[in-house]
Amino acid sequence: MTMEIPSDLIRFLRKANRVAVLTGAGVSQESGLRTFRDPQTGLWAQYKPTDLASPEAFARDPKLVWDWYAWRREALKGVRPNAGHYALVEMEKRVPEFTLITQNVDNLHRFAGSRNVLELHGNIQRVRCSECRTFTEDWGDDTEAVPHCNVCGGLLRPDVVWSGENLPRLELEAAVQAARKCDVFFSVGTSGVVQPAASLAFAAHNKGAVVVEVNAESTPLTPKADFFLQGKSGELLPELVAEVWK
Ligand code: APR
Repeated sequence: MTMEIPSDLIRFLRKANRVAVLTGAGVSQESGLRTFRDPQTGLWAQYKPTDLASPEAFARDPKLVWDWYAWRREALKGVRPNAGHYALVEMEKRVPEFTLITQNVDNLHRFAGSRNVLELHGNIQRVRCSECRTFTEDWGDDTEAVPHCNVCGGLLRPDVVWSGENLPRLELEAAVQAARKCDVFFSVGTSGVVQPAASLAFAAHNKGAVVVEVNAESTPLTPKADFFLQGKSGELLPELVAEVWK
């Protein structure tokens, strides 16, 4: 069942010069990835993500954390972007100024072809040194121990933001600017409970932007949104893009 896209939203988007989009795990759900708060499967079901995605967990057992991310990178090899990711690639081509802000670390937006992507929580495909922060593309796949940095010898870690860590400053500043300047702000596939990402939609709303939420369920943002398209982003976004820019 396809949803009727409101005609005034279609009109807004046709005139919009600046569009900002915030995505969360929901946009990757139709690619087969679990959203962040879903129970995990298999070997890792015994652990909570917060037990693995934190500086304390890494300090306590770097090998367990390293293996969890190695397992997630391996699992991502068979995962492809879905129609929602590709609809956002199309929207970026149609809008003069388009910024995609994502909380996801799965690299699927870049994989789909999105260009102006701000990765607020990092990217699981990137690895850096936990000491000197040097990035590395290749590390010995030593299954016995966590690989070490070639520059300083520190332990390598995924370039993702763990709970309690600061977000990358430049990306966050750019995201705030995009939210404040945009004509239309989309919040897609996010429960809107984790700060500071969750405040971006409110910043856009306070500056007079039209706020559109595309989500499977209502969230703390829903009462403030000008439009709430409830359903699957992999269905709603392609339909919206086709309606606006057909
Ligand atoms: N289409 C649209 N929305 C969906 C879909 C779908 N196919 N599937 C799930 N959703 C919605 C869920 O209803 C939920 O509101 O996506 C949202 C996902 O919310 P979370 O699982 O909380 O993920 P997210 O909002 O991305 O979490 C934000 O929290 O733990 C941290 O760093 C982690 O980046 C993550 C951040």
